[in-house]
Amino acid sequence: MTEEGWIRRALAAKRDGAPLAAETWTRLVAGYLNGAVDEAQMAALAMACTIRGMAPEEIAALTAAMVHSGDVLDFPTGRTVVDKHSSGGVGDAVSLVVVPLVAACGVPVAKLSGRALGHTGGTLDKLEAIPGLRTDLEPAVFRAQVERVGCAIAAQGPRLVPADKQLYALRDRTGSVPSPGLIAASIVSKKIAGGAGAIVYDVKLGGAAFLRDANDALGLAQMLVDLSGRFGRRASALVTAMDEPLATNVGTAVEAIEARDFLREGGSTPNQRFAQLVRAVALEMLQVGGVDPGVAAERFDRALASGAAYEMFVALVVAQGGDRRAFEGLAALPAGAPALAERDGFVAAIDGVAIGEAARDLVAASGSRAGIRIIGTVGTAVRRGEPLAEIRGAGDATAIARAFAIAAEPPEPVRLIQATVRDAEPRAASKGASE
Ligand code: URA
Repeated sequence: MTEEGWIRRALAAKRDGAPLAAETWTRLVAGYLNGAVDEAQMAALAMACTIRGMAPEEIAALTAAMVHSGDVLDFPTGRTVVDKHSSGGVGDAVSLVVVPLVAACGVPVAKLSGRALGHTGGTLDKLEAIPGLRTDLEPAVFRAQVERVGCAIAAQGPRLVPADKQLYALRDRTGSVPSPGLIAASIVSKKIAGGAGAIVYDVKLGGAAFLRDANDALGLAQMLVDLSGRFGRRASALVTAMDEPLATNVGTAVEAIEARDFLREGGSTPNQRFAQLVRAVALEMLQVGGVDPGVAAERFDRALASGAAYEMFVALVVAQGGDRRAFEGLAALPAGAPALAERDGFVAAIDGVAIGEAARDLVAASGSRAGIRIIGTVGTAVRRGEPLAEIRGAGDATAIARAFAIAAEPPEPVRLIQATVRDAEPRAASKGASE
């Protein structure tokens, strides 16, 4: 059979709901990279997967094929190197805190991060708002920094999972992003290629997340954990609420400043939801990294209280080209116009998408030190004319005020951590079988 005939037959099988064999996935991914499978054919395949779904074996085969489309990093530290991935939220500065915090607890962290997508913020954009700091680390530099400092946060380079880069862009253009199988393969392939021995996923659920259905979020969390297990990685996934912004400040530098101050103040913050998620994610990272749960909590508290976690953040910043004094002195732009409550009542909801988009526009107009500071979190009692939020930099606060719904009664609290999915049977955090 000709190559063209073989590709057509595979596409027709997937269109009709038949699972494709592992060798077929390997061949399709290789063909996509070398041009034998063109964009139209790959788009048809991605759409067929989105509509028909994918069997666990297919997701594993696609993941393996994508992992081997580029470089695969390895960490010969003798200790499990941990990574953490959030599916994207607003004011989600958790990575900036937990990466140095977990490293200060003795578990090395090698984090590959992404940029802002839509209304959600990107860890790389927040970090790069620190003067001088670079995230385009060569694989050898990334690896050496993890071994020397204990942690690093870098961008996915052009040689790491190039098949995902190409396929993700195609899915984005052709309406096939919301396929749980394709999302899982895309995320997990990057974590495996990045060299993580154990991974914690934070699957966001709610009005300001990409997933808005609880069953979809739980299904993806389970899929991420199972798929990581097939590659011999220990993994946990939290499903966490993402409706209102998580951090008090939304933007780029303003979130890095909040993360810095959280660590500098030994974890003391009025924002209890942020503190709760930091603790949950960090303890989960320590556990998948091989630390006993009782010991993990003790190390977490000590690393924060002693200042070791803060010093680790400074060490990461300096190792990646940032200047300690500039980092320590970094400040948000002065407060501009406040967004005011139009009536008495309780903050019933905050439209996280609107806040994320407004913060992105403020940063584009006034630079990285611009953003939004939330004052009236969900549940806060407010009186007409009181501030709900303030702009850092110059901008119109009326649209921001409209993102706050005020009701006569206080809302039912939404649980921050909705579910935790762990490996059924913890396995050795070694590199594994399916590769
Ligand atoms: N994030 C990813 O890395 N890939 C997806 O497909 C969706 C979110």
